[in-house]
Amino acid sequence: MYSRIAGTGRCLPDNIVTNADLEKRVDTTDEWIRTRTGIRRRHIVDGETTGDLCEGAARAAMEAAGIGPEDVGLIVVGTTTPDQVFPNMGCLLQARLDIHGCPAFSIEAACTGFIYALSMADQFVRDGKAKYALVVGGETLSNIVDWSDRGTCVLFGDGAGAVVLEASEEAGILSTHLHADGAYKDLLYFPSGVGSGFDRLREGKDFVQMRGNEVFKVAVNTLGGIVEETLEANKMTKSDLDWLIPHQANIRIINAIARKLNMPMERVILTIEDHGNTSTASVPMALDVAVRDGKIQRGDVMLLEAFGGGFTWGSALVRY
Ligand code: COA
Repeated sequence: MYSRIAGTGRCLPDNIVTNADLEKRVDTTDEWIRTRTGIRRRHIVDGETTGDLCEGAARAAMEAAGIGPEDVGLIVVGTTTPDQVFPNMGCLLQARLDIHGCPAFSIEAACTGFIYALSMADQFVRDGKAKYALVVGGETLSNIVDWSDRGTCVLFGDGAGAVVLEASEEAGILSTHLHADGAYKDLLYFPSGVGSGFDRLREGKDFVQMRGNEVFKVAVNTLGGIVEETLEANKMTKSDLDWLIPHQANIRIINAIARKLNMPMERVILTIEDHGNTSTASVPMALDVAVRDGKIQRGDVMLLEAFGGGFTWGSALVRY
């Protein structure tokens, strides 16, 4: 028994913030942002929560898969910006979708959250514990970014992406690969939580901290390693891949990985220009864009990869 992707969906807030808008807020230029990151605009919530976005993406994926609430046997949500500390985002989404009784949980693995969630859901389906699993990555990092810090505020956007996995005799998810190394915890982090710095958190004085240059180097190295690991595990070569669906953090990181795979950029799904870095939402949203555009066809082999704070990093090799 395997799992395969039965449907995909995404949800973005309507409000768009362009690089020109940011020029008015911080000392930056459209040219700097475009050339250093590949980003032109990003969607930013204007009152919506992570839960609103996850619900929109989940409903779209369920509709694409042709299933109703009663069919869902598992909900896994990747997010680091949940609506509440608890109940977890999976349960909150479950209530919104009028689904009852199935396991529902969230995974906090920063930008790799969706790949972690996909891997967990794949195991459940393979074990026969769920016929259909709803897997969502949703984030509203704009709420915890310092809008006066040009080093971070230009990078991030909000959104959610989702897939429905279904039990199948044909292999859809061919393999998943997850890694983490907490030794990198000080390169990219949000400082406070319930256990420490709670006062700063309550006062809204804490923001995402990042040593961008160092993150960049580790990202290129770790992602370079995991694409090789994934191909090796499946006894495949670079030429067996039809598509690369990378985490959309920085176009220069994506270019480096595409070069490593000898992949022409036409075979790389890019949303960074319009979405910015939406953390755990970036890979499932890019997948949904490419599926709905008709680029990715049934039978195509795609490599999904992501890295994020922790560090966490992971990949999935998927036959669509
Ligand atoms: N506009 C204009 N100038 C900016 C700027 C902005 N938005 N942000 C930083 N700068 C300045 C810096 O202050 C620095 O100025 P200085 O040379 O006078 O000190 C200069 O640009 C270069 O900064 P640097 O940090 O070396 O730039 P960079 O080429 O490394 O690009 C990032 C910065 C953040 C775009 C890049 O490091 C990056 O993308 N890193 C990975 C981040 C990431 O992916 N994080 C999420 C992981 S999931």
